[in-house]
Amino acid sequence: MTKYTLNVNGATKSLDVVPDTPLLWALRDSLDLSGTKYGCGVGQCGACMVQINGVPTRSCMTPVSSVGRQKVTTIEGIDPKAAHPLQQAWQELDVPQCGYCQAGQIMSAAALLKDNPNPSDADIDAAMGGNLCRCATYLRIRAGIHRAAE
Ligand code: FES
Repeated sequence: MTKYTLNVNGATKSLDVVPDTPLLWALRDSLDLSGTKYGCGVGQCGACMVQINGVPTRSCMTPVSSVGRQKVTTIEGIDPKAAHPLQQAWQELDVPQCGYCQAGQIMSAAALLKDNPNPSDADIDAAMGGNLCRCATYLRIRAGIHRAAE
């Protein structure tokens, strides 16, 4: 085990894990941040998406040892009152079906809106291509991003 100090959602967090522990499991098991989901574990689905320095990042493929003092943001940290425009739009438009992938979807969408506050459908499809949804809520996700951008 190795001691790490991470910057997660604006707070300093210490944990003891083996160096190749995926950030996903450090967040979920060591830091009790269970909003980030395990889907495939091999970088294919995007359920585990967090932001590192604002960039959407698959936490299942990110060893804790590689994170250093970079800023990690999870769905729990995207807005202090869970009222980010995307979270509001998701509720207004009933975007989720089963909901499992949606934290990852929102983390990617939030990064998109920060870079591009008024994305086209094509921009959204390009930015969200790394986030799969088995319920196929893609049209509602797209609508939710447009609503949040209003
Ligand atoms: Fe990380 Fe699927 S769980 S990409």
